Amino acid sequence: MEWGMKNRLAQLIKSDGHCLFLPIDHGYFQGPTRKLEKPGETIRPLLRYCDALFVTRGVLRASIDPENTKPIILRVSGGTSMVGKDLSDEGITTSMEEAIRLNAAAVGISIFVGSDHEKESLLNLSKLVDEGEKYGIPVMAVTAVGKELEKRDARYLSLSSRIAAELGARIVKTYWCENFDKVVNGCPVPVVMAGGPKVDTEIEVFEFVHDGMEKGAIGVNLGRNIWQHDFPVPMIKALRAIIHDQASVKEANDIFEQEKVKKSHTAKQSSSHVIT
Ligand code: 5RP
Repeated sequence: MEWGMKNRLAQLIKSDGHCLFLPIDHGYFQGPTRKLEKPGETIRPLLRYCDALFVTRGVLRASIDPENTKPIILRVSGGTSMVGKDLSDEGITTSMEEAIRLNAAAVGISIFVGSDHEKESLLNLSKLVDEGEKYGIPVMAVTAVGKELEKRDARYLSLSSRIAAELGARIVKTYWCENFDKVVNGCPVPVVMAGGPKVDTEIEVFEFVHDGMEKGAIGVNLGRNIWQHDFPVPMIKALRAIIHDQASVKEANDIFEQEKVKKSHTAKQSSSHVIT
């Protein structure tokens, strides 16, 4: 592997082999989704706890301080929206030249296996890999399901993840599912887990992330279950403990509870200082 490719992967995947990527790319098809209306404000308290940000060029330029950031995974596919006909009809939205200009550590693209646009999305991935390899920029493939969330089972996700790896993705982002080892074992490149829509309790998030790590994922690319939570910093700290410090579900939950108390206490103190 070339030095540049190795160096970029080392920026993203820490020396323990694990990673916590924070995706805030959802606006590229969902618009100003809840708690991401002002991306800069959402990210600010979380930045120090993530290993990389997954973001479009628009939000990067408008909301991220170039002098104080983490490695950037640039979302370079899009062209569709929640209200359009078909989320799978994506193209490549950002050139490799632009990714280099923005000093991206990697680029990310969705593939839609089994959709009407399966072939285009897979060929987009292949083209992006060709371009990325020229300049030492790793491609992260996202196994997208569009609105069909029920597709997220081991059979489908192992198929999509394997195809992404075969076409040259250096990292595959997929969803956690029951029998997740089937997904990881069938994929010859590192796998990270997305969270999907926000779930009801934080313990569910700790449980699936812990299970996925035990089954061979190298980390997460997890957004809404962190930044849509009422306590995003306690959430990310607890998840970091599972990913980088081998915390159990209980230990992660204890961290979450302790951090939550601290946050509530700080919030109370600062509101009592407000002069009315
Ligand atoms: C959205 C994405 C997200 O990066 C991915 O789904 C992870 O975020 P979340 O944990 O909120 O699902 O690809 O387009």
